[in-house]
Amino acid sequence: MNQALQDVIEHRRTTNVFEPNHTISDEQIEHLVHLATRAPTSFNLQNWRFLAVRTPERKAKLRKLAYDQAKVSEAAVTFIVCGQLADYSALEWRLAPSADAGFMNLVDWTRRMSPASESTPASSTPTARHPLSGGAPA
Ligand SMILES: Cc1cc2nc3c(=O)[nH]c(=O)nc-3n(C[C@H](O)[C@H](O)[C@H](O)COP(=O)(O)O)c2cc1C
Repeated sequence: MNQALQDVIEHRRTTNVFEPNHTISDEQIEHLVHLATRAPTSFNLQNWRFLAVRTPERKAKLRKLAYDQAKVSEAAVTFIVCGQLADYSALEWRLAPSADAGFMNLVDWTRRMSPASESTPASSTPTARHPLSGGAPA
């Protein structure tokens, strides 16, 4: 295994203590979310939403819900990561790039995964913009 990769894995640590007075900028928060979204998701659905909790009042509320863990309110920002339930109607749209690149057969996958699609022949070219994308293709 590549030594650099092994070092990263072996030296990863959970961070438990934060400077309560430290603040970070909107740009830094956006960058953190950008990095978090490099993680893989099932079928590349990217069915997540990130809420950045920043005000002392809201962090205090969240801390109560997190067994009073100090780090929840002491970190400059505390993220709530929301998972959205799988939306099978998004599958065809999300898998289209992989199908177009020849990695997978979209007809087989959509038949297997979505009962609603059984009677409708699947096309590898998305015909509509999916609502999860905010109206624009990713
Ligand atoms: C899904 C998940 C939830 C966790 N929740 C908490 C938590 O609520 N509080 C906490 O102090 N650590 C939490 N941890 C961190 C683990 O306790 C920590 O990873 C473990 O003690 C090993 O330490 P390390 O990450 O430094 O190797 C969580 C870890 C995972 C994977």
